[in-house]
Amino acid sequence: MLAKTAIEEIRARSDIADVIGTYLTLRKNGATFKALCPFHKEKTPSFHVNPQRQIFHCFGCGAGGDVFKYVMLQENVDFMGAVRLLAERAGVPIEDDRYGGGGAGASAGASQDARRIKDRLYALHEDVATYYQECLEKDPAAQEARDYLDRRKLDQAARLAFRIGYAPNSYDTLIPWGQKHGYSPEELEQAGLVARAPETNKRYDRFRHRIMFAISNEQGRVIAFSGRILTADKQSAKYVNSPETSLFRKSQVLFALDRARQAILDRREALVCEGQIDVIRCHLAGVDWAVAAQGTAFTEEHARKLKRYADSALLVFDGDEAGRHAALRTAGVLLQAGLTIRIAALPPGDDPDSYILNHGPDGFRELIGGATPALDFQIKAAQAGGSIGDEATHLRTVAAVLDFIALAPNSVQREELLRQAAQRLYIAPEALRVELLPRLRRATPRTDAPTPPPPVDPAAPAVPSAPEPDVPPSPDERVLAEHLAANPALAPLVEQYLPLALIRHALCREFVTAVLAAHTQPDGNFMDMVAERDDESRRLTTFAALIVSAPGKPTTEYADDKVVHDVILRLWRAQLTARRSALASLPDSGSDTERTRLTFDLQKLRHWETGEPVIRAQMG
Ligand code: CTP
Ligand code: MN
Repeated sequence: MLAKTAIEEIRARSDIADVIGTYLTLRKNGATFKALCPFHKEKTPSFHVNPQRQIFHCFGCGAGGDVFKYVMLQENVDFMGAVRLLAERAGVPIEDDRYGGGGAGASAGASQDARRIKDRLYALHEDVATYYQECLEKDPAAQEARDYLDRRKLDQAARLAFRIGYAPNSYDTLIPWGQKHGYSPEELEQAGLVARAPETNKRYDRFRHRIMFAISNEQGRVIAFSGRILTADKQSAKYVNSPETSLFRKSQVLFALDRARQAILDRREALVCEGQIDVIRCHLAGVDWAVAAQGTAFTEEHARKLKRYADSALLVFDGDEAGRHAALRTAGVLLQAGLTIRIAALPPGDDPDSYILNHGPDGFRELIGGATPALDFQIKAAQAGGSIGDEATHLRTVAAVLDFIALAPNSVQREELLRQAAQRLYIAPEALRVELLPRLRRATPRTDAPTPPPPVDPAAPAVPSAPEPDVPPSPDERVLAEHLAANPALAPLVEQYLPLALIRHALCREFVTAVLAAHTQPDGNFMDMVAERDDESRRLTTFAALIVSAPGKPTTEYADDKVVHDVILRLWRAQLTARRSALASLPDSGSDTERTRLTFDLQKLRHWETGEPVIRAQMG
């Protein structure tokens, strides 16, 4: 177990206002601070921080406690997780119980051993980094590497600043080197610098004839290496990285975070690239808030780590399909951690490194200045390849956007994204909100998730079924039929905008179908069509006769498209209302497509409600 004194030391070095201040904007309020509560949605601040008592309390939602409690809630970690984060922040060394045997129940001796082993590994990495740097400068075999770095415009200053080195072209350099410098082969193996051949069990150098980048932790201590190949050799990996060790956890390490940390804290924003050379180039260009995931895809842990320093992330990715894909994936991970995200797309074929070399620091700043909010980027990506008005494209876009928004961990952020999405997609925010709910329920449980309604009869039809015969058509259905009969020229409007399933009255639907069918035939007469469709009961003919002879039936003059247009709208609305309530009472599973369709239809409806001239135009 972690000593109680260690926890108290961490507490003493973690001023609650400082810590919370890195997450929230605190406003001075007498002797205390006030902020909008991060744990519930509110418009006026009821979240208080008391630096004297080192506690926080929200009068809105009741959340409260000490600095550890705050970090637990904010970072969604357990107590030890909060201790670890705060220890790291405060620079208080603690044993890591996940690696190296210093875990709960381990004796003080074991934990001291683990500490000692780790210290040795730090020292080893430090010394090997220096050794590789010397090799780059002095080894005659490193000429190729020096030439390569020259070509890549990584000069002496850059090499020194980023501790770029060269691993000699041999399988057994490090073990003799270790012998001379007091490191055992076992230690080199623990550091992942030496590997073992599976068959012979013989130890050999992992990195050979490669340009070596030192990977540091947030405190700037070397914990791993990444070796880049010198030639465009398809046989070997472009990069070889250190394996996971007690010092190096790939999924957590952000390249250059030690150098970028202060700048990120100052801006509350991190610039995220894909490659380490890109990050180096950014820093050389003065964009010193750049980091990259190290040798792996961007993980939740990376995102949580960034969240400790930043509120937002700016992603700079390749402009091609793969880059777009990676950007969206990374944006999702970052959104999940509660960051806001912008994305700057590079032209295809460029990476930040080449872009800065070709366009200079100012050109690059201009490019990132024009970054798009991730939501817009998502919309654009989903629409790419399809045409804007196309239903499939639209469905895909709405679904993608909602999936994205559902990742946001707090309701305030979701609400804001929803509002933006509604604006961009011309959909009522309410409609989007309805669609978002099932996605939230499916996601991992969260504190502010809405309680799902009790499951009702799952067999309830989403679309109302046709009523019994002999029930009269609704007034709207009747008006539609009468107008169509009086003026079959309205047929194209109906055909284009009214799915016949929206006519619930079976006979009326048959009648309209007959009128539309007649319209497509030269000299077609709908009464002939009616007769053709009628069955033994002659009910359709009777219905049609009723419609055409209705008292007060519209004359051609009155049978205008405006009336029919409004009828179509009302029929849609009735159906959508019915579908919406049917959906609300359905269990989640299996209703996805319907949800998406409903959103699409609601949007179309809204478009019509304001888009009457469009319909007129389309009527020709
Ligand atoms: N990477 C890796 N292993 C590979 C390829 C890539 O670990 N086989 C990681 C490296 O951290 C690399 C990043 O993914 O920096 C991005 O890859 P890439 O864009 O190919 O590399 P760059 O850093 O741009 O290097 P270069 O400009 O030399 O191609
Ligand atoms: Mn590159």
